[in-house]
Amino acid sequence: MKEKTLGFIKPDAVKRNIVGEILAVLESERLDIIELKMMRFERREAEAFYIEHASQPFFEDLIAFMISGKIVAFVIEGENAIVRYKELMGATDPREALEGTLRKLFALSEDENSVHGSDSISAANREIAQIFR
Ligand code: PPS
Repeated sequence: MKEKTLGFIKPDAVKRNIVGEILAVLESERLDIIELKMMRFERREAEAFYIEHASQPFFEDLIAFMISGKIVAFVIEGENAIVRYKELMGATDPREALEGTLRKLFALSEDENSVHGSDSISAANREIAQIFR
């Protein structure tokens, strides 16, 4: 099924000048990028984006990190794009991520983990509407 999913390259990766390396991995995996922009979250926008995690103990750290610098946002479209991109990202914690995944290759820690991707079709629709409205 053809789907769209929303991804970010997070501040830790933008600061280390590895945007191109990460995009190159996406392209080499034949994931089609149909929207792309560099942006910086306002605090209120980031809190709205991550609202489902508002009760988590890491919420404030997550927001502080996501507003700490520029991010690159993109939309991928293709067959099973959500799952394919999630598999390519790897586990949230890079210590648990499989070889060859973006987080194994690039992430620094569980919070500075370089990339975001939508979890589900409903999350993707909401996230794309918020970021590329
Ligand atoms: S959950 O509870 O399973 O839904 O959480 P998870 O999907 O693993 O993580 C949700 C987002 O929170 C980030 N995260 C953290 N940030 C800061 N500190 C800690 N300890 C931490 N743990 C998880 C994680 O990177 C996810 O961000 P996104 O942007 O969705 O990848």
